[in-house]
Amino acid sequence: MSKTAILEIDGKKYEFPIIVGTENEVAIDIEKLRGATGAITLDPGYKNSGSCKSEITFLDGEEGILRYRGYSIEDLADKADFLEVAYLLIFGELPNKAQLDKFETDIRKHTLVNEEMKTILEGFPKTAHPMGVLSSLTSALTAFNPKSVNVENEKELYEAICKTMGKFLVIATWTYRRRMGFPLNYYDNTKGYVENFMRLMFEIPTEPYKMDKRIVDALDKLFILHADHEQNCSTSTVRIVGSSHAGLFASISAGVSALWGPLHGGANQAVLEMLEEIHNNGGDVAKFVLKAKDKEDPFRLMGFGHRVYKNFDPRATIIKKAADDVLEALGVDDPLLDIAKQLEKVALEDEYFKSRNLYPNVDFYSGIIYRAMGIPVEMFTVLFAIGRLPGWIAQWKEMRLNKEPIGRPRQVYTGSTLRPFKEVNQR
Ligand code: ACO
Repeated sequence: MSKTAILEIDGKKYEFPIIVGTENEVAIDIEKLRGATGAITLDPGYKNSGSCKSEITFLDGEEGILRYRGYSIEDLADKADFLEVAYLLIFGELPNKAQLDKFETDIRKHTLVNEEMKTILEGFPKTAHPMGVLSSLTSALTAFNPKSVNVENEKELYEAICKTMGKFLVIATWTYRRRMGFPLNYYDNTKGYVENFMRLMFEIPTEPYKMDKRIVDALDKLFILHADHEQNCSTSTVRIVGSSHAGLFASISAGVSALWGPLHGGANQAVLEMLEEIHNNGGDVAKFVLKAKDKEDPFRLMGFGHRVYKNFDPRATIIKKAADDVLEALGVDDPLLDIAKQLEKVALEDEYFKSRNLYPNVDFYSGIIYRAMGIPVEMFTVLFAIGRLPGWIAQWKEMRLNKEPIGRPRQVYTGSTLRPFKEVNQR
C-alpha cells in the first residue's frame, strides 16, 4: 500500500500520509489538511472519520469481530468476569489474581455514597426517567469530589477510577429504588460487584433476599458484552467532554445522556415497548414489518440495524444464546419472546432488511433477557450504562494520557451572508 494519498484541488496536488492500524485499517491523516489547502472535510455522522488512535477495542463490522485489547468477545464472555474485563479495558492487561483482588478491594473502599446525595435524589419526581436521574446524580458526584484528577499521577488516577466504579453502581440502582419508593440500599462489601447490583436493586428490609446465581452469571456476561464498543456515540461524547479537561464524573454524566437516546442505548427499552405494542395490537408481526419498510412512516424496527455491523453483531449471537439459556433455566414463558422470534425470522428473510444488512443487534435480545430477570423496562438502559462504564473510563483515560487536543469540529457554513441590521420597526 502506498504511504501517501494525493488530493487534487483546483489542479494543485497535496500529499497526505496514510496510516495503517495493527489490524490493517487504513486512514488518511488529514491533520494538516486545512493548513495546507484551506479546505476541510465534511462527514455528517462521522461515518468515515476517525477521531483518534486507540488501543482499546477493535471491531470489524463487515466480519462481525469484536475484541477488547486483542481478546475476542467470545472468549471474554465465556471465561472472564466483569471486573476482570473492566480491569483489562482500563489498564490494558488481564489482571493476575493479586491485581484483581486489589482492584475489587479498592473499588469497595468507594462504595459508600455521600448521604447528602439522597437529598438531591429526593428532589426528582418519582416519575423521572432513571437515565436522566443517573446522569444528574453522576454529575452531582463532582460536587462531592471537587478536586480534579491529576491524570499524570498514577495513584490519583487509579483512585478516581475505583471511586467511579464503586459509586456509579450504587447511584444507578438508587434511581430505581427512588422510583419504587423503596428504602435505598447500601453496597455489601462482602459480596461481588454484580451480586451487589441485584441486592441493591431488589433486596427489601422485610424479607431475606435469595440470590439466583444463574441471573448473576447471565448479567455478568451481559455487562461484559456492553463494556466497550470503540468510538460509539456515548464514548465519543465522554472523550470530547473530557478533552476540555472536564472531570471524570462530568464526562461520564455526559456519556449517560448520550446513551439514553433511542437510537443508541435507549434502543433496548424501545425494543420491549415495540414488542408490547405488537402484542397489544393482536401480535400481527407482518403489519409492523410493513410499517418499518414504509418510507412515509417514521416507525423503525427497534433492535435492528447498526452503524458499524453490516454483517452480524457478534454480541447479538452470544446474547441470543444466553437469552435462550436463561429463559429455559428460569422456565419463562413470555409471549413477547414469541413475537421477537417471529419478528427476527420475518425480518431476516425480507429483501428490504437483507439488502440493507439490517440484522438484530445487541439491544434486540438484551431487553428480552432483562425482562426475564425481572428488571423493569425503564432500567434497561441503566444496565447498559453500568456495563459501558469501564469502556467510558478506559477511553477517557486513554484520551487524557495521550494528551489529545480539545475536540472541536469545524463546519461548512450555509447560512445567510452578511446583511445589514434592520431596526425592529423596519422588520
Ligand atoms: N428499521 C427499518 N429500516 C431501517 C432500520 C430499522 N431499524 N435501520 C435502518 N433502516 C434503513 C433506513 O431507513 C435506511 O434505508 P434507505 O437506505 O432506504 O434510506 C437504511 O436502512 C440505512 O439506515 P441508516 O439510518 O442510514 O443507518 P445508520 O447506520 O445511520 O443507522 C441505526 C444505524 C441508528 C442503528 C439504525 O439502524 C436504527 O435506527 N436502528 C434502530 C434503533 C436501534 O436498534 N439502535 C441500537 C443500535 S445498537 C447500540 O446502540 C448498542
